[in-house]
Amino acid sequence: MQQLRPSVYSIRAIDWDRRLFDELIPLPEGTTYNAYLIAGSEKIALLDTVDPTKTDTLLDELTAREIDRIDYVVSHHAEQDHSGSIPNVLSRYPSARVVTNAKCKSMLTDLLNIDEKRFTTITDGQTLPLGGKTLQFFDIPWVHWPETMCTYLQEDRILFPCDFFGSHLATSGLFADDEPLAYESAKRYYAEIMMPFRPVIKKNLEKLGKLQIDMIAPSHGPVYPRPQAIIDAYKDWVSDDVKNEVVLAYVSMHESTKRMVEHFARALIHRNITVRQFNLVSTDLGRLAIALVDAATIILGSPTVLTGAHPQVAYAAFVANALRPKTKFASIIGSFGWGGKMVEQLTGLLGNMKVELIDPVIAKGHPKDEDFHALDRLADQILAKHKEIGIAG
Ligand code: FEO
Repeated sequence: MQQLRPSVYSIRAIDWDRRLFDELIPLPEGTTYNAYLIAGSEKIALLDTVDPTKTDTLLDELTAREIDRIDYVVSHHAEQDHSGSIPNVLSRYPSARVVTNAKCKSMLTDLLNIDEKRFTTITDGQTLPLGGKTLQFFDIPWVHWPETMCTYLQEDRILFPCDFFGSHLATSGLFADDEPLAYESAKRYYAEIMMPFRPVIKKNLEKLGKLQIDMIAPSHGPVYPRPQAIIDAYKDWVSDDVKNEVVLAYVSMHESTKRMVEHFARALIHRNITVRQFNLVSTDLGRLAIALVDAATIILGSPTVLTGAHPQVAYAAFVANALRPKTKFASIIGSFGWGGKMVEQLTGLLGNMKVELIDPVIAKGHPKDEDFHALDRLADQILAKHKEIGIAG
């Protein structure tokens, strides 16, 4: 347990070894599950708990600090990495009540079978006095589930936003002192978890912008004692602005697609367009997601296999489509031996992305001069599109 402010403590369970979240999201830097304890002169509140795999860490901390009473367990989010230890906390502290909004209450009863009688339901903007410390609750839906809410500690001006502004980053340091690493981890987290909800995140940022926030204490990763940088980063990520960048994600089986990708990347670079190239056989999907936060264009490169796209490219297209980046243009390059529906399959997977599709370049067998010329023309088209929206010189 570490002190953030007088009577305000962080209780972190550091998960150095976890490498996958939701059996989907890579965690190259591990993660932390952060709970917070706020001790007023009259009442004590615990904000969130920790992942069920780390329940003992939380309970041992409470024991070590001789916390013999908890009055409120505030649950900001029903996902189990924050709520999963609530049943154990309620068993340890029989008079504790779970404080949350109606939607989260419903989800917690479904997911964790918590007795309805243990809940105190609050509404947007409501306050809860602890004695010298006042909690104020705000609904911030879809960061990243429908029930998500946050707590603002009025006297200390600390925002506890749960997943919002979080990062999967295991560090011994409590605060975001290594700013490049913190920024990269926060951007990865945004890309993988928050990006599909970009429009509603804008609204949540506007809503929280009315508060004076001196510190942001999320439920994953480090605390921000100077929160303006992470707030500004989020404003940039959720804006409609894209950068003069192309994400070039590909797989090649027998070098045809690879030769096209390499030629095409050079053509883009010669036109002063930034290229983010990913071989999908080996790339960390999180890095691809990060690149999609800013890029104006995505190009998928695939051979034709089993009459369609390479499964790794189809998977990347499926994930990119689910993440709903603000990417504006897309195309496909690749190769085939004797036929197939690779292009139709991949474009069909991008239905959620509001992109303008540019004509693909597909080579029969190894690419020849006319294919390389077609790639040059595709690079010209992309440059022209980027100029049209004012991001290329
Ligand atoms: Fe960190 Fe959505 O749970």
